[in-house]
Amino acid sequence: MKNSLLWKLFFIIAVGTVVFFWLIDLVASHTEESMSYIDQDYRAELQAYAKEAERILYKEGESALSKWVKEIEEKENTWIAISRPKIQNLADTQLSDAYLSTFGLGRSLEWKIHLYFVHNPTMEIRFEDGITHFLIQLPQRMRPGANLFIIDLLLQIALPFLILCLITYILYRYMMKPLKKLEKATRRFSEGDFNVRASEVLTQRKDELTRLSSTFDHMADRISTLIIDQRQLLADLSHELRTPLTRLNIAVDCVEQDLDSQDALERLRYESSNMQGLIDDALTLAWFNTESPKLALEKLDITTLLQVIVDDAQYEFPHHIITLLQPDHVIVINSAHQALSAALENIIRNGLFHTPEGKTLTIELKQENHNLLIDIKDQGCGVPSEYLEDIFKPFFRIKQSNHNNDRSVSSKKSGYGLGLALAMRQITALGGSIHSENIDNNPVTGLLVSIHLPYDPV
Ligand SMILES: Nc1ncnc2c1ncn2[C@@H]1O[C@H](COP(=O)(O)OP(=O)(O)O)[C@@H](O)[C@H]1O
Ligand SMILES: [Mg+2]
Repeated sequence: MKNSLLWKLFFIIAVGTVVFFWLIDLVASHTEESMSYIDQDYRAELQAYAKEAERILYKEGESALSKWVKEIEEKENTWIAISRPKIQNLADTQLSDAYLSTFGLGRSLEWKIHLYFVHNPTMEIRFEDGITHFLIQLPQRMRPGANLFIIDLLLQIALPFLILCLITYILYRYMMKPLKKLEKATRRFSEGDFNVRASEVLTQRKDELTRLSSTFDHMADRISTLIIDQRQLLADLSHELRTPLTRLNIAVDCVEQDLDSQDALERLRYESSNMQGLIDDALTLAWFNTESPKLALEKLDITTLLQVIVDDAQYEFPHHIITLLQPDHVIVINSAHQALSAALENIIRNGLFHTPEGKTLTIELKQENHNLLIDIKDQGCGVPSEYLEDIFKPFFRIKQSNHNNDRSVSSKKSGYGLGLALAMRQITALGGSIHSENIDNNPVTGLLVSIHLPYDPV
């Protein structure tokens, strides 16, 4: 899979080019070879000349032969000779009979003709007597390879050009087809079709372009989630703002008409600070969603942090028992004070809010190898199991009437459902995780929220 496009291109270009040149060379030499022999009809004509010369020599004599030769020479614009070579052996040496039987003054009609020679070769046909040689310089019209120039042009330029055009086109299609599909998917995505994914259209491939498509899909996943979340956040926020705004308007009316002004002013103050909190939380949430921020990390003692939060909470919920179990010191170097304390405060307040007065909320800090575990157990009503994950979604609240009938739970107002959503993002930004479960499932005896944080002992 890794670099497979490289290997495919290597195969097509390097191996393909070598095979391509080898094939062109093979075809060229084969074509040239097949063009290098005298045509069968011309061979027959030359044979016929030799036969005729032989007949004239024996039937009509040399002067008739000389006349005939002159005619043919003129007709074919060449020269002809009828010769009987006399070989003089020196120093009492002899030529072998085998050599003499094949010895010739010219080329045999069956032999290959070299196409690039300037002068036409001399062809030889032997008379029946075996010693008379009929020699003729090959007439121009019989010379093979007449189309050599055109064939060379075709084989060396036109054919390679066409084949290279074809290979380029195939390569182009091979590379461009998936890119075009990707471009189409990108266009559809930019037009608002957030469901489009590139891996659906590039199913057959397994190479670098598949990696590109999965990167696109990853981006599409992230952007579509982001846009959908932001839309939802905006819709929820405007919905949530409606009620306090109506109450604000009523309060303003009361002030204008001088009805219960003091009470109305109190209400105005309360609603506007409530709205301020809601908008702050919603903006922080939007910031976490879009930026996926890495928080500025700092060194802190978590035990001190927890003690401060517990003291504040105890002050706010004086009739609850809060038990804090923790070692003397747990110093972390890679945490963020603000995010961690905001998350812990939210979870602890939730626990206290859902726990009846007089009951206990237990916070336990444990250290396990490279993890810190913070368990926050309350003695409230827990969360219906189907909602255990939903409570971390923005604006998710469980209706109080179905959820908790116990009148002794805190009379403080519940929030807008942003607390746990923010806590989860804050803990995630610190590299940790958070999850919730009901304690002793049936009957539920409270909710346990567990936070895992990475921990490098100092
Ligand atoms: N300790 C808990 N016990 C029971 N229910 C809880 C607890 N903590 C959270 N919940 C439920 O989860 C919902 C979401 O919590 P949260 O995000 O903090 O929103 P909020 O506190 O603003 O309502 C709450 O509305 C509540 O129904
Ligand atoms: Mg809350």
